Amino acid sequence: MTIRPRRLRRTPAIRSLVREHHVHAEHLVQPLFVVERDADAGAVASMPGISRFTVEGAVGEARELFALGVPAVLLFGIPAGKDTTGSSNADPNGVVQRTIRAIKSAVPDMLVIADLCNCEYASHGHCGVLDANGNVDNDATVTLLARIAVTYAQSGVDVVAPSDMMDGRVEAIRSALDAHGFDAVAILAYSAKYASAFYGPFREAAESAPAFGDRRGYQMDPPNVREALREIALDIEQGADAVMVKPGLAYLDVVRAAREAFEVPIAVYSVSGEYAMLKAAIANGWLEERVIDEVLIAFVRAGADIVITYFAKEWAARNR
Ligand code: PBG
Repeated sequence: MTIRPRRLRRTPAIRSLVREHHVHAEHLVQPLFVVERDADAGAVASMPGISRFTVEGAVGEARELFALGVPAVLLFGIPAGKDTTGSSNADPNGVVQRTIRAIKSAVPDMLVIADLCNCEYASHGHCGVLDANGNVDNDATVTLLARIAVTYAQSGVDVVAPSDMMDGRVEAIRSALDAHGFDAVAILAYSAKYASAFYGPFREAAESAPAFGDRRGYQMDPPNVREALREIALDIEQGADAVMVKPGLAYLDVVRAAREAFEVPIAVYSVSGEYAMLKAAIANGWLEERVIDEVLIAFVRAGADIVITYFAKEWAARNR
């Protein structure tokens, strides 16, 4: 007798009968870039198919995403001006705050997640507040992030997603939200966020490249996985409702390790560089479009519950 696993691969029907994992639009999150100044809207050169939207444009996009079955957006703001402290980030009328209100009023059932960080707002492009020596001041940053989170909550955000990688920020944000009566606003923590070169196109889209130095003093060192589990454990202890591993493709082992160690939902962020490289190869005819499906299923198979991807809209439109 020969054991023949090929029997279960013989026809489309039998393959789908035994298929172990699926991608569902309801687990996808589409990142959206929103500009304060209308003139800054338009295509992002290094991310074909991705645009920077005005507030009204973001509402239209949210409507289309919702109709396609994508339930959530992750907002990034590009303010009209930057200063050394990133003050417009905490403005109740800032671009993200206005976008949250506009989307929640036009498409109330759309989940609105707001990225919480200072790099798009501060002229130095670092994720926090700088001290007199030009170092990122952890505790001053945490205080500021908590204040910004409250303004997002006041605007109606469903989830805040701190992406700064400061220590202690989840606890500070949770306390500030609770103290202002926003105990229902959830925290999706960018817990294991690596100092990655895959963020390149995002920094063009969000105008957030650091003016000097790099982010290695706060984002994680790519070779470390035990440290990722420690970061995740700390964020859960501090009250994170869900945690994130970022980037995705080069860190699938971290997603799997997190899945095995923790019960909370795990998000993976397939970042701008992952999108750009697939888009470029597809545009050149070097890869077939179905690599997109193969990559999205890899995140699910690795154990992610939530997949944040610039392909969300495109994938949902193709698979409705
Ligand atoms: C902000 C932030 C970044 C990304 C998400 N939030 C950039 C960075 O840390 O430099 C990257 C997302 C992407 O590349 O798609 N701190």
